Amino acid sequence: MNAYLNGQYLPRSAAMIPVEDRGFIFGDGVYEVWRAVNGRLFETDRHLARLTFGLRELRINAPDIVRRDVLDEVAEHLLTDSGLLDGEATLYVEVTRGVAPRTHQFPAAGTKPTVFATTNRFLPPNDVRARGASAITAPDVRWLRCDIKTIQLLPNVMAKQAAAERGALEAIMIRDGVVTEGSHTNVLGVLDGEIRTHPLDNLVLPGITRAVVLEIARALSIPVREESFTERDISRLDECFLAGTTSDVMPIVRVNDRPVGSGTPGPITMRLFKEFRAHLDASCAAVSASH
Ligand code: PDD
Repeated sequence: MNAYLNGQYLPRSAAMIPVEDRGFIFGDGVYEVWRAVNGRLFETDRHLARLTFGLRELRINAPDIVRRDVLDEVAEHLLTDSGLLDGEATLYVEVTRGVAPRTHQFPAAGTKPTVFATTNRFLPPNDVRARGASAITAPDVRWLRCDIKTIQLLPNVMAKQAAAERGALEAIMIRDGVVTEGSHTNVLGVLDGEIRTHPLDNLVLPGITRAVVLEIARALSIPVREESFTERDISRLDECFLAGTTSDVMPIVRVNDRPVGSGTPGPITMRLFKEFRAHLDASCAAVSASH
């Protein structure tokens, strides 16, 4: 039983949604991805807060799964049934506006949101990290509410596909000459001794990994400036890295086939990765001790 759909546990292959689900018809929904280590979710509350924010912004009634106790129960059930209490996994949760005849405006009040959750084994990309990854740049053609984690990911899908076709791990998106974020990661640079990244506004997702990494950097007295840098600045970066739930901290050593900095994973990046990984392991272990 590795799927949860509207209150029921079932095999993922048996989890079906009606064709009139607004997620299917309109991309009318939001999602979250958690990291789980040894059966424990990382940063449960921050992901829940972001999910709640997205639902509120889209005026979708918040289902029970946004409650910490319900989420914990669903996660534990899925992780247990899937044999994922050891090692690394992800939990995916999606909420849509529910099932209703197709019309753009909201359906009748009382239409129940669709709630789906599933878990997957996760293999941290440690080999790529050791070598450093490459990225391309791609125009950021998304709407102007990139702060909401909606399931409408077509621009992200197209950008990531373009990267894959060029043998790159990520597409760094550019809006008006400015680096916003990756197709599924936040993008950070080291420039003139400071960590630089796009500030939190409507143009980027407020990444949980980004937030934790910036906290770690500040604790290590590494200067942080939440100010965007431009596509042209990429050639002057000392280091570049991605932050995301399925990337942790990932050095980017080439952008558009040109080396970034030394062309190898940078010292600040790898120090942040080490500290982040230790924090991830420690916080998942700490929760499990109370069990
Ligand atoms: N992606 N920016 C975008 C556009 C994202 O989709 C994500 C996450 C991030 C990083 O956020 P966080 O650190 O909270 O994971 C930034 C998820 C993992 C995904 O779509 O699979």
